Amino acid sequence: MTVTIVGSQFGDEGKGGIVDLYGDEADVVARYQGGDNAGHTVVEGGEEYKLSLVPSGAIRGKVGLLGNGCVVNPRTLFDEIDGLRERGLDPDIRVAERAHVILPYHRVLDGIEEDAKSEGDLEAGTTGRGIGPTYEDKAGRRGVRIGDLLDPAVLRERLEYVVPTKRALAEDVFGLDLEAAGETDSGIDVAAAFDVDALYEEFKNHGERLAEEGMTVDAGTYLAESIDAGENVMFEGAQGTSLDIDHGTYPFVTSSNPTAGGACTGTGLGPTTVGSGDVIGIVKAYLSRVGTGPMPTELGGVVGDTPGYDGTETGPEEELATKIREAGGEYGTVTGRPRRVGWLDMPVLRHAARASGFTGIVVNHVDTLGILDELRVAHSYTLDGEEQFTVPPTTERWGDCEPNYRTFDGWSASDWSAIADEGYDALPEATKAYLEYLEAELDTPVYAIGIGPGREETIVRHRPF
Ligand code: IMP
Repeated sequence: MTVTIVGSQFGDEGKGGIVDLYGDEADVVARYQGGDNAGHTVVEGGEEYKLSLVPSGAIRGKVGLLGNGCVVNPRTLFDEIDGLRERGLDPDIRVAERAHVILPYHRVLDGIEEDAKSEGDLEAGTTGRGIGPTYEDKAGRRGVRIGDLLDPAVLRERLEYVVPTKRALAEDVFGLDLEAAGETDSGIDVAAAFDVDALYEEFKNHGERLAEEGMTVDAGTYLAESIDAGENVMFEGAQGTSLDIDHGTYPFVTSSNPTAGGACTGTGLGPTTVGSGDVIGIVKAYLSRVGTGPMPTELGGVVGDTPGYDGTETGPEEELATKIREAGGEYGTVTGRPRRVGWLDMPVLRHAARASGFTGIVVNHVDTLGILDELRVAHSYTLDGEEQFTVPPTTERWGDCEPNYRTFDGWSASDWSAIADEGYDALPEATKAYLEYLEAELDTPVYAIGIGPGREETIVRHRPF
């Protein structure tokens, strides 16, 4: 049996905690897209684990699989595995041989291309992990795959073809002096990042370690055998629908498909297999966004990310944004950057529910909103004098949308843990009204409600496995 977890908004909806919670009954937790841009936090037994690549299920002894749709930085992979081992865990991680490898030049190019784009306000505010450049090479049929690391002759051949083109791009297009560039802010030796011999030596060694530890698989076959043997597989989406390369706010998106279709192409299983189980959308009770691009329900702004915002305005919206940001801990797991925050946006959620075919939703951060007397939800937008219930296809038009708000009573609770123990009926009436509005608008049941960071602080109404 399968269950798919998808972010409904801009990532950071608390997917890791839900994968962890529902993952109890899973045998394998598989990621199907993205790479080490996917900061996720899992709290277990008072211990906090911050991961960016390894699937969250690996914390709890599940097999963690990185599917062919992922882009894998072996340095991060082994750093995370070694870090977990030092803390007494023994993660069982498998990596698809068809997954693409993030090489150091991808990270350097991610940084310089963002700088170049920033002159025209086109930068996406990427995590700088080389995600976009790696997927570009995949689509351009010049990428290096995990399977290539296992075969030194193939690795050498791939690098000898691709590295000179990357050097030319860095030097001739972006004007970088590779030998004089030193190290990037994240400690990458720029000259070595474009040197065939240095890359070959390092990545051949990564291949040897992958082979020694028996980590590489044919993802589709591995998962099909697991399902045939009666095991449960959970697909763990990273980022969120509005960051999807096809269905998000292009070009301010990531370079993969977080929507549920990605679980098929990114693992090697068919839509009938993925669709035979629940597809659960994870919703944050308000909205947050890292990086640039429009956000019609934004409160206040973040300098450098909110288009046109210079930080000089201060008023009730900025104060509200700060309050929610502090209460919700809205700072990037990977980058530490303050996240932009805004009201819940129903057109964004209707779009997400349709694109992935949600069979249920989980609403997180409900306790965070407990600091407000009154809250608002964008029920629809007005665009050119007409009411719109979903997101327009172009980002520029989306930026022109004016939200039509509905106001909801706020809620408060002195003891969320006690409510978590008692269950749904113990929630404040105003909270239930908010959740029931969501269920009705999305025509999808609320499977669980997050009212705190720990997994015991979740009210579970339905278990998908
Ligand atoms: P990239 O994935 O690093 O190329 O970044 C592209 C966009 O996606 C940027 O706006 C990032 O801030 C955003 N992004 C990537 N990963 C995450 C995530 O895990 N949470 C939230 N935003 C993300």
